Amino acid sequence: MIRFDHVHKQFPDGTTAVDDFSLVVPSHEVAVLLGSSGCGKTTLMRMVNRMVDPTSGSVWIDDDNVADLDPVPLRRRIGYVMQNAGLLPHRTIADNIATVPLLEGVDKKTARQKADELLQLVGMSTSTADRYPSQLSGGQRQRVGVARALAADPNILLMDEPFGAVDPLVRRDLQSWLLEIQAHLAKTILFVTHDVDEAFLLGDQVLVLREGAEIAQQGTPDEILDHPADDFVRTFVGIDLPSRRRRR
Ligand SMILES: Nc1ncnc2c1ncn2[C@@H]1O[C@H](COP(=O)(O)OP(=O)(O)OP(=O)(O)O)[C@@H](O)[C@H]1O
Ligand SMILES: [Mg+2]
Repeated sequence: MIRFDHVHKQFPDGTTAVDDFSLVVPSHEVAVLLGSSGCGKTTLMRMVNRMVDPTSGSVWIDDDNVADLDPVPLRRRIGYVMQNAGLLPHRTIADNIATVPLLEGVDKKTARQKADELLQLVGMSTSTADRYPSQLSGGQRQRVGVARALAADPNILLMDEPFGAVDPLVRRDLQSWLLEIQAHLAKTILFVTHDVDEAFLLGDQVLVLREGAEIAQQGTPDEILDHPADDFVRTFVGIDLPSRRRRR
C-alpha cells in the first residue's frame, strides 16, 4: 500500500507543485495520475522514493513513513520507470537492467541470467543484451526501462509516462503487455500519464488532476465516465468524443 497524507510541496523558488494531496493506493492495484503538463504528477511520484521530500504532510509505504527510511535502500526496493526510460548510454542493455542487482553485489553471471530472464519477460530477444541503448528503438528502450525497474523484484512500481515516447501502435502493444504481466505479478503501481485512453485502460482507479495536483475527480474508469464531476473533468476526458461513447 502507498498512502499520501495531506502532502504539500513548495520548491525553493516559491513554486507550489502540490497543494494538500491525499491518496491511498491499495496493494496490488494500479492508480493512474492523469493531468496536464506541470500539474505535479512527477513531483508526487518522486515523493514515494524520496527523490523529492514533501514540505509538509507524509508519504507511507505500508506502516512506514518514508521520511524515516534511508533513501538509498528505499530506492532500490522500488521500481522506477522514468519519463524517458533513463538508461545509462555507456552501459550495455544487460548491465542497465541489472543495475540494482550489481550494486547489491550479485555476481556478473547471475546478474546476466537475471537480465536475460527480464528481457524475455518484457518480450525482447536476449540477443539485444549486449547492445547499447542507442542501438535499440524507442519502444525497445522503454521495455528495457521497465525490465530494469523489475530487476530487484519490487512490490512497488512507479511508472512516469513509461510509454510516452512511442508511436500509438507500439503504445497499445505495451499497454496490453503491462495488463498481462500485472495479472500475474500483481505489483502496487503508481502510473502517470496524460493520455486519457491509457489511464482508463490501465487504472483500477484514476485521479484527474488540476494544477497543484488538486484532485478534480477520483474513481474507477466507469465512475468517471458515467458521472464526470464537473465541466473540467468532462472536457479533460473528452466525455462527448465518439471513442468514449463506444467504451460506455
Ligand atoms: N526542482 C524544481 N524546482 C522548481 N519548480 C519545480 C521543480 N520541479 C518541478 N517544478 C515545478 O513544479 C510543477 C510540477 O512539476 P512536475 O514535474 O511534477 O509536473 P508534471 O505533472 O510531471 O508535468 P509533465 O507532464 O510535464 O511531466 C511545475 O510547475 C514545475 O515547473
Ligand atoms: Mg512529469
